[in-house]
Amino acid sequence: MFKLRCIKCGREYSQKKIIYTCECKGLLEVVLDLDSIKVKKRDFQKRSPGVWRYREFLPVAGRIISLQEGGTPLYKAENLGKKIGVRELYIKNEGANPSGSFKDRGMTVGVTKALELKVKAVGCASTGNTSASLAAYAARANLKCFVILPAGKIALGKLVQAILHGATVVGIKGNFDAALKLITEASLKFNVYLLNSINPWRLEGQKTEAFEIAEQLNWEVPDRVIVPVGNCGNISAIWKGFKEFYDYGFVNSLPQLAGIQASGAAPVVNAFKKGLDEVSPIANPDTIATAIRIGAPVNAPKALRAVRESNGMMEDVSDEEIITAQKLLARTEGIGVEPASAASVAGLIKLLNNGSIGKDEKIVCVVTGHALKDPEMIFNKYEKPLEIEPTLAELEKIIKS
Ligand code: F0G
Repeated sequence: MFKLRCIKCGREYSQKKIIYTCECKGLLEVVLDLDSIKVKKRDFQKRSPGVWRYREFLPVAGRIISLQEGGTPLYKAENLGKKIGVRELYIKNEGANPSGSFKDRGMTVGVTKALELKVKAVGCASTGNTSASLAAYAARANLKCFVILPAGKIALGKLVQAILHGATVVGIKGNFDAALKLITEASLKFNVYLLNSINPWRLEGQKTEAFEIAEQLNWEVPDRVIVPVGNCGNISAIWKGFKEFYDYGFVNSLPQLAGIQASGAAPVVNAFKKGLDEVSPIANPDTIATAIRIGAPVNAPKALRAVRESNGMMEDVSDEEIITAQKLLARTEGIGVEPASAASVAGLIKLLNNGSIGKDEKIVCVVTGHALKDPEMIFNKYEKPLEIEPTLAELEKIIKS
């Protein structure tokens, strides 16, 4: 019912094989036999919210390792919508997942797959959230976990999560791209199951973001879904989810995607705007949005294909635009997100202002990680708390100012 297929040469592989890329080096994706799935919309309604609500579409069997991920809120953002001039705006808050990011959707499937494949150890490179999530799921599955991180470049909240859950945390003198290269080589040599988004099984969990958006909007697909982009796994997974529900007949349209990168780390946006298939890597990516500080995204071909198939667009946003969007979302809607997540809202504002997105569209911004992931950034860039003597007179000055 499930197999792997290379998106470049079409070669197929069995689901029992541990393999991350095709012999031709192309990316692999999971192919479902939709004809063999028998489920109705009302079947979902009898189940709890979350990734496994859509189990017929998920390619694993056996003991499921879950922290009850998914089922995240889709907020109607009326205040923010009014402020920036959008008729119907929704925020899909992936920060509400157990470890505070969308990665949990991928890890419940990826770590369940690891058990099915009978591996003893899992590993990843990370800008922080992947490692935080994998560490938690590996603990629950009783697997050894190795995480490779750019030393000194990980937001504190994420770093402490990996430590807390008992992963072996290894910092390297180098960036995420170097860390990913290292763990990929190590995984093939030392039998460590790789759970970066190059692993196609992991992305199957993340496609449930699309399933939920469709169901939460009463099976009416939005015009536009805006997604922050780093290593390019998530936007590809979301597109796969929408397409599967469309092909299965659950929805009768598809959204246009908008993929947003930070200006200092925007190799895919550059390729997209030039109409290229090849992405020129950026040697020293830099942005305040550390989660998406990635110069050589491995899933770029999948993301470019997804955005183009959806007749969508890609845009980059500056660090200032990211901070402005983070603040706006937090202060108009009460939704706290980390900088990389705010890139989707910053992208929306930019695309509205330059006329690429219409004000009458029904829009979903995916926000990918919780504000507390990166408290230091907020502390450094926002107003400092006031400090006074504990007298009514001093407090009065503040209240009346
Ligand atoms: N937003 C957040 C909060 C992330 O942590 C990431 C990726 C992305 C967006 C981009 O998603 O890579 O699928 O395009 N974080 C990875 C990590 C790279 O290691 O935690 P993508």
